[in-house]
Formats: sequence, C-alpha cells, structure tokens
Amino acid sequence: MRTVITYGTFDLLHVGHVNLLKRAKEMGDYLIVGLSTDDFNILKHKQSFYSYQDRKVILESVRYVDKVIPERTWEQKKDDILTYQVDAFVMGNDWKGKFDELCSFCEVVYLPRTDGISSTIIKDNLRGDT
Ligand code: CTP
Repeated sequence: MRTVITYGTFDLLHVGHVNLLKRAKEMGDYLIVGLSTDDFNILKHKQSFYSYQDRKVILESVRYVDKVIPERTWEQKKDDILTYQVDAFVMGNDWKGKFDELCSFCEVVYLPRTDGISSTIIKDNLRGDT
C-alpha cells in the first residue's frame, strides 16, 4: 500500500482544495491530511473561519481523504512520515522547494495549484473587498 501525506489549513473547503486532494490520492492508496490546528494557524499568521474541529469533520467527509491528523508544528513532518510510513509528501506548488529536505525520507511532489481560488479570495469576496 502506498501512503501519501499532505498538509494545510483547508478553511472554507473549495475546488482548489478538492483538486489537490484528488490528485494527491491518485498518487497512492491512502491519503493522510495534516490539518493545521487553530494554534498553528496563529503561528502562521492565518485566521480560519472554521475551527479545527469543523475543518476536520469537513475534510473527513471528502472521499479522497482517509485520515486527518493535527499539524501542530513545522518540524513534525519528518516524524509523521516515519510514523505513518509515508511514501509521498505532496503540496501545492506555492510551497515549491520549501520541503525538499524531506526527500531523504520519501518522494516529495509539488502539484500545480488551481488558478483563481483560495480561502483568502473567498473571504475577500464575501467582505466585498474585490
Ligand atoms: N491549493 C491548491 N489550489 C488552490 C488553493 C490551495 O492546490 N487554488 C492547495 C495548496 O497549495 C495546499 C492545499 O491546497 O497544498 C491547502 O492550502 P491552504 O493554504 O489551506 O489553501 P488556500 O486556499 O491557499 O488558503 P489561504 O488563502 O488561506 O492561503
């Protein structure tokens, strides 16, 4: 069985997220999502609309997602890869090059992002900022 892992905040789940999750799942048999906790979001200077618990429930309802684990620190990725015997680490290409050091533990893949959509764009639109 080939295990794939990806990380993110996944607030206001949108088609860019679903495209990423679908392509990540297609790279293996079992997809784990490291979901940023509310405390970790603060550290990343991100404020999500939905709580960690709600984002987790929503992600768990996505057919491509097999398991959701908390992402609490930047440094946990290596341990997660070893703990879950991960074969491929996948992120959108806004992170290109940022996690290359993980390639001593598993394959590292950056997938193209979906154009024109992000949680920030949705929030800005709803606020009437754009
Ligand atoms: N992603 C993507 N295409 C998009 C938006 C996100 O492929 N249009 C991917 C990101 O590259 C990342 C994952 O989805 O691998 C989770 O991204 P996240 O930061 O939660 O989503 P964004 O919508 O980019 O959130 P924000 O606007 O808060 O940065």
